[in-house]
Amino acid sequence: MSETDSTPVADLTPRKAKLEHKRVAAEVQAANDAYFQEDQPIMDDAAYDAKRRRLVALEEAFPELKEAGGVSAAVGARPSGRFAKIRHRVPMLSLDNAFSDEAVAEFAARVYRFLGRKEEDGGIAFTAEPKIDGLSLSLRYEKGELVAAATRGDGEEGEDVTVNARTISEIPQTLAGPDVPDIAEVRGEVYLGHADFAAINERQREKGLPEFANPRNAAAGSLRQLDASITAARPLRFFAYAWGEMPMLPAATQAGVVEAFGRWGFRTNPLMKRCESVAELVAQYRLIEGQRATLGYDIDGVVYKVDDLALQARLGFVSRAPRWAIAHKFPAELATTVLEAIDIQVGRTGALSPVARLKPVTVGGVVVTNATLHNEDYIRGFDSKGQSIRDGADIRIGDTVTVKRAGDVIPRVEAVDLTKRPADSKPYEFPTRCPVCDSHATRELNPRTGKEDAVRRCTGGLICAAQSVERLKHFVSRDAMDIDGLGDKQIEFFHSDPDLPVLEPADIFTLAQRDAANFKKLKDKEGFGAVSAKKLFDAIEDRRRPPLNRFIFGLGIRHIGETTARLLARNYGTFEALREAGIAAADETSPERQSLDAIDGIGPTVVEALIEFFGEPHNEQLLDRLLGEVQPQPLEAVASVSPVAGKIVVFTGALERMTRDEAKAMAERLGAKVAGSVSSKTDLLVAGPGAGSKLKDAQKHGVEVIDEAGWFDLVGG
Ligand code: IVH
Repeated sequence: MSETDSTPVADLTPRKAKLEHKRVAAEVQAANDAYFQEDQPIMDDAAYDAKRRRLVALEEAFPELKEAGGVSAAVGARPSGRFAKIRHRVPMLSLDNAFSDEAVAEFAARVYRFLGRKEEDGGIAFTAEPKIDGLSLSLRYEKGELVAAATRGDGEEGEDVTVNARTISEIPQTLAGPDVPDIAEVRGEVYLGHADFAAINERQREKGLPEFANPRNAAAGSLRQLDASITAARPLRFFAYAWGEMPMLPAATQAGVVEAFGRWGFRTNPLMKRCESVAELVAQYRLIEGQRATLGYDIDGVVYKVDDLALQARLGFVSRAPRWAIAHKFPAELATTVLEAIDIQVGRTGALSPVARLKPVTVGGVVVTNATLHNEDYIRGFDSKGQSIRDGADIRIGDTVTVKRAGDVIPRVEAVDLTKRPADSKPYEFPTRCPVCDSHATRELNPRTGKEDAVRRCTGGLICAAQSVERLKHFVSRDAMDIDGLGDKQIEFFHSDPDLPVLEPADIFTLAQRDAANFKKLKDKEGFGAVSAKKLFDAIEDRRRPPLNRFIFGLGIRHIGETTARLLARNYGTFEALREAGIAAADETSPERQSLDAIDGIGPTVVEALIEFFGEPHNEQLLDRLLGEVQPQPLEAVASVSPVAGKIVVFTGALERMTRDEAKAMAERLGAKVAGSVSSKTDLLVAGPGAGSKLKDAQKHGVEVIDEAGWFDLVGG
């Protein structure tokens, strides 16, 4: 973020004005591209507006700077989307992906295994339907009246776009039918047809405004308009395919509920089909794939769902995706272009990642300028096992390369055309020093395999500005502390701001106080203003009591993703308890180490990472300072209402109504810890027929023993 000059334009020399105009125009252009091409704003609205105003002021004072079709013509192009938030009462989930027929067969096999069923005993039916490439929307109806519409957001909380949704003719204002429940949250996809998309871009072109890269971005941009009359003028469409809160379901199957949606007044996809086998699913996939080009709207795959809703409920979720559904994605799209440069990015853990800067090329409707090159070996022509790839061809700057883009995955350089290689090109030399802090960059030896790690890492740790910036970005990110108005750009700004530096997480929470004491205020700085500075401080204040799992995840401890963070939060309850365990566990014989090792789902890599993190003196100080500012809150456990919350449960013997996996998932969902063996710490043994040594152990330790029926009595159904 560069400071826009605050010198009045009238005081500028023509030369200075020209230089500033060029710089600001480039910044506005970049912001437009990010917004329209990628649907990924890089600046907040206030900063964007300030830059545009400056551009116009410069052009008014120096008319020779005005260019036909220049970026200043795009004034007013971008909506300033600030919406109220709506918390989803039932989270909006995402889907796992499958990229091959085999992966689909594996998905089905997992479902059968989880439910303890064999195909021979009677098949499980699935539905297959197109995966619409738009944006998902949750519509809440009370007594048949539309009362709220919310975007997906992070799945837990979305944006309130009710006023906009009311302008979409395919979204009914009222639902009709005898089986419409009092509360009905209907979910589906908002999208734009190809012809309408082309017409919108045509109009943008005529007005000299930037064009949207694809229908999805255009649909998102059209829905998220503060001025709903703009939404109304865009022919957005809607397919209903899922639901949130719905206490009374109109049917017992996926297909049945979607059919009811049709009766209530929604459009549902005509290509949805109920299938009895994997072969039928794949056949429906091929059929839909064959019609893809003539459907008139973008789809990026086919979604399969278990049809029986009772089975769906038993299958439940892992992390954020249901076990009962999967998206079978269409194959990736390819394009050829020239690799112009290789940049090295330094990540949160010091990993040096090579990024290909490409001559812009359109891949599947999106302009691609960057692609990953993975790592040093990949560039040299080897895979992670040391086998040669691309017939051993290396990748060089100046090469003509094939770029592959699959769905929302980062594009990658896939192949190189050696016949087009410039005669004077040289093999790329991967840096052995960090391009940011100049520390040595090394490849660690994996102690278990004895092999060199594929990733080269900067050894600078926290002295490396790149690592500390990336850690801060991670800390505030959506799945971690989720601080509104504090994104990547703002972190970069504060990290290098001499007046209000943010060098470690604790500094974020002292921003307001330090700003108050400063002579030069944040509100007077470019890109902020009184309103956005106050909003930022409020948003930070709002996150002083973060959920424990988000806090743990935000610390960016190696190998600790969202799921593991949640598991740790649930097992330890408070951060202090986790921290004590992490310190004590360094002693392999300690009871803390044993209970850490005993947690299902925590392997040796995570244990090592925790010990290393808590053992590092620098982290100790950093945590002390941070915990002086924030108070992580124990997981709002399903807990308090569940009789097994916080209990250690062991299952043994044969179970009849559920498989072992299912039992474990159910217990964990209710806040229990599931252990593999019985000890004095065990609270409950659920024993089925054939229970042996575990039952004896339980008797020895005086552990309560119940059978499967007792389990269901206890947890209620
Ligand atoms: S079902 C619990 N069905 O795909 C499952 N999603 O990758 C909820 N999507 O956020 C999703 N078409 O925006 C489902 N026929 C379809 C879909 C679909 C498009 C989108 C949806 C979701 C994303 C997940």
